[in-house]
Amino acid sequence: MSSTTDIVASSGGTSLFSKVRTTFAVLGGVYVLAVGLLAVPYFQSHTIYLNAIRLPLFANFDAPEKYGLALNKTHNFKIHTSDNETLGSWFILAESIYQSLPTPYTLPQPHIANAIQSRPTILFFHGNAATRAFHARVQHYSSLTARLDVNMLAIDYRGFAESSGTPTEEGLIRDARAAWEWLLSQGAKGEDIIIMGHSLGTGVSARLAAQLSDEGLKYRAVVLMSPFSSIEEVLKTYNVMGTIPLIKPLTMIPYAMNFVSWVLVHKFDTLSVVPRIKGEVLIAHAVNDWDIPYTHSEVLFNAFLESHLPSVELPSNPAALSKEQWSRFTNQITARNAKMDEIVDTTNFPYFGTVKRFSEGERDIVFVKTLEGSHDYIGVQEGLQDIVGRKYGLFGSTSSDSSTPAPVTPSGLAADNLDFMKPRKELFDEFKLPLEEAM
Ligand SMILES: *[C@@H]1O[C@H](CO)[C@@H](O)[C@H](O)[C@H]1NC(C)=O
Ligand SMILES: *[C@@H]1O[C@H](CO)[C@@H](O)[C@H](O)[C@H]1NC(C)=O
Repeated sequence: MSSTTDIVASSGGTSLFSKVRTTFAVLGGVYVLAVGLLAVPYFQSHTIYLNAIRLPLFANFDAPEKYGLALNKTHNFKIHTSDNETLGSWFILAESIYQSLPTPYTLPQPHIANAIQSRPTILFFHGNAATRAFHARVQHYSSLTARLDVNMLAIDYRGFAESSGTPTEEGLIRDARAAWEWLLSQGAKGEDIIIMGHSLGTGVSARLAAQLSDEGLKYRAVVLMSPFSSIEEVLKTYNVMGTIPLIKPLTMIPYAMNFVSWVLVHKFDTLSVVPRIKGEVLIAHAVNDWDIPYTHSEVLFNAFLESHLPSVELPSNPAALSKEQWSRFTNQITARNAKMDEIVDTTNFPYFGTVKRFSEGERDIVFVKTLEGSHDYIGVQEGLQDIVGRKYGLFGSTSSDSSTPAPVTPSGLAADNLDFMKPRKELFDEFKLPLEEAM
């Protein structure tokens, strides 16, 4: 006899079940309460931004070397927004600029304008929770400034770290714009700025790119790492610690999802701004991302693709289709898939991932689906960094010094398979770098 049966038998048979029932009732109650709290703006805001989590604890933003950055490579300062908030910010020098200084006993600040005018800059928007000093983020600054030899500007949005204010969707976009304007004030050209967002920061990056496009302003590229299509979709697909679906049980209750989308204030609906984004786009997502499933990136990539594909009329009553209606429907699907195959180049790298790309006029839309990287570390994968570097013309010298060796093409791959990595010629004209040499 097993011990479980013993317990049930000795406790009278019903009490175990009533205990289980009570437990479920309590859990259910907690769940309903937790979801209900999402309707309260204060809790919703804290759930989405998690800005109260100030990791690392008691950070000293004046001492970036404490968090892993080279001595005097990073300038800690404040950026002022158009609505009078102040944002804690780090400007990290590109490696070649840093190495050219008599380091480490030279403050970085006087060299920022020169750095910005001689190397491209990544404008980095981090995800929710924690601060710009969080170790996963510092790893991005270290490896991107070194491998791609770019400067980086990382800000903490309003309400995060030592920045003033409280976060809102409009507020974060304003913060992003203030960071952009600060770079311009230091002599950057828009074409020298790569807007890069991670997780929640992709919602910010996409909106900034859309805003700049609306105004006819140019940026070199927007890179969306571990993005989501909209917060509403994240809530539906988000699994707490990779296992417990947060909102999914609600889909069993009629109209509950409508309630969620109705109370959602901070929507970050990236999908809806896709048609406004006019510059180069790179989307990157790891298949082992347990926080935001990579299907969000597929949805976004397909949204960019949408206008190139023949539409499919969805049958109004799929249950009662005539034979003709059915064959028209399947023909439309076939035509759509054929068109997709025709315009999308797909390259597989067996242990790295898959790269999809299509061209649209002057720009490419690229989707890199990696095997590894999880949610927080996709941007530190050298494979991904190299795609960004080649695609957006970051490798090679910007000065007349042409002694920089050309990047090596991975062996065993046909050159035409690497077509997606080819940068647009204009980028090289701008830097007066011969295209062949850079390839
Ligand atoms: C801007 O902020 C400062 C300090 O936070 C405050 O003293 C000043 O009155 C504010 N100005 C405006 C126009 O809100
Ligand atoms: C940075 O440079 C300044 C100016 O020379 C120096 O006083 C300071 O100690 C340096 N900081 C570090 C962490 O080495």
